[in-house]
Amino acid sequence: MQKLVITGGKPLIGKVKISGAKNAALAILCAALLAEEEVTIDNIPDINDVRVMLELINFVGADAKWLDKDTVRIKPPVAKGPTPPYRLSKKLRASNLMLGPILARFGEAEIPLPGGCNIGIRPMDLHFKGFVEMGAVVSMEKGCVRATCKKLVGTRIYLDFPSVGATENLMIAACLATGKTLLENVAKEPEIVDLANFLNCMGAKVRGAGTDVIHIEGVSRLGGCQRYSVIPDRIEAGTFMVAAAATRGDVELENVILRHLEPLRAKLQEAGAEVIEYEDNIRVIASGELKSIDIKTLPYPGFPTDMQSQMMAMLATIPGTSLITENIFENRYQVVDELKRMGAKIKVEGRIAIIQGTECLHGTQVKATDLRAGAALVVAALMAKGTTEISNTEYIYRGYHELEKKLVSLGAQIITK
Ligand code: EPZ
Repeated sequence: MQKLVITGGKPLIGKVKISGAKNAALAILCAALLAEEEVTIDNIPDINDVRVMLELINFVGADAKWLDKDTVRIKPPVAKGPTPPYRLSKKLRASNLMLGPILARFGEAEIPLPGGCNIGIRPMDLHFKGFVEMGAVVSMEKGCVRATCKKLVGTRIYLDFPSVGATENLMIAACLATGKTLLENVAKEPEIVDLANFLNCMGAKVRGAGTDVIHIEGVSRLGGCQRYSVIPDRIEAGTFMVAAAATRGDVELENVILRHLEPLRAKLQEAGAEVIEYEDNIRVIASGELKSIDIKTLPYPGFPTDMQSQMMAMLATIPGTSLITENIFENRYQVVDELKRMGAKIKVEGRIAIIQGTECLHGTQVKATDLRAGAALVVAALMAKGTTEISNTEYIYRGYHELEKKLVSLGAQIITK
């Protein structure tokens, strides 16, 4: 397995272009299964999760291929394909988003229960509850979830929690249901809005994405979509913003949507970094001492849970006490043990992590335990004195396109071995 070897202590300086959003692209690739004509999608990040998702949709009968480095053309399936294999679906959580489109289009779907980062139990009860309310019979057998319904019927569905995945799965399925569906207490993440825009590009009738209530009017079929461009990745952008501040550097990010970065901008400014906003770019400058801050992760537009670990790394050497409260996942502090190996002083009490700023971190051997924990270790290694060797980097390559190359272009000292 490849390792990243990073020699820290150098400020990141320069410009970096942000790639397409992993979590928007994965949902959109699944939604393409609804179409009955060809779709072309660009600004798709060439990352491992996307490659696995393309394998998955091809396995169920689509014909998806790269047209260039970030454009994918998909000829959707004409009939229900075989059940995708567990060896693929276990590699990512988003494989569960195949359920909605296949059920809605073909009347039955069978998907192995998904995998993904082990940051919590990550049930699918809200997905299943919604499908049942639309008339489906949902059962579990041999590690697979099976849903059948000749024709889904639109209805009013309240989500007990604004789950991103459940919102996406049900919004996709409702596009081909009979009549109207009202989804309430939904997730409002930018990726939900991007997915709704893509569905409408194919002829769906989705309104209200990005608010607490989404209205979907079912249609009989969806056509293709000549050209759809995925939004930039706000979590990749956030990761670079935090790395810039953590290394006391000066980095300008190109191709971002400022509104999606509001929580990061606000918290980095509160910590004493300078953040300059341009039309499609954002610049983070930090020097000298930053201030300790408190973070609470919440559904969008709150502070994103996917940025919690990276923020923790930055806070590890800020004098004073910082508090992080993780309100979304119940097991998203696995990076703490690895940061402590680098000298961080962090104590976890239930959902709260108490970070006591220390003089500096020291390079050593550490291992990534999930995607964003891996990103946090990269941030920590960039800040640390000496050299850090990060193993299990396959987690990192799931969600970041050319991370090492982008960091080296900003002056980081990184090699892969
Ligand atoms: C999506 O996961 C993202 N993944 C995650 O990003 C992100 O952290 C998460 O949303 C929250 O923003 C993708 O989009 C592929 P949820 P998802 O359903 O859909 C509970 C990354 O690093 N829940 O909003 O799985 C669940 O247990 C990844 O890019 C239920 O209880 O997240 C969790 O505590 C990590 N029942 C909370 O809701 C359900 O049926 C949020 O989960 C579904 C979820």
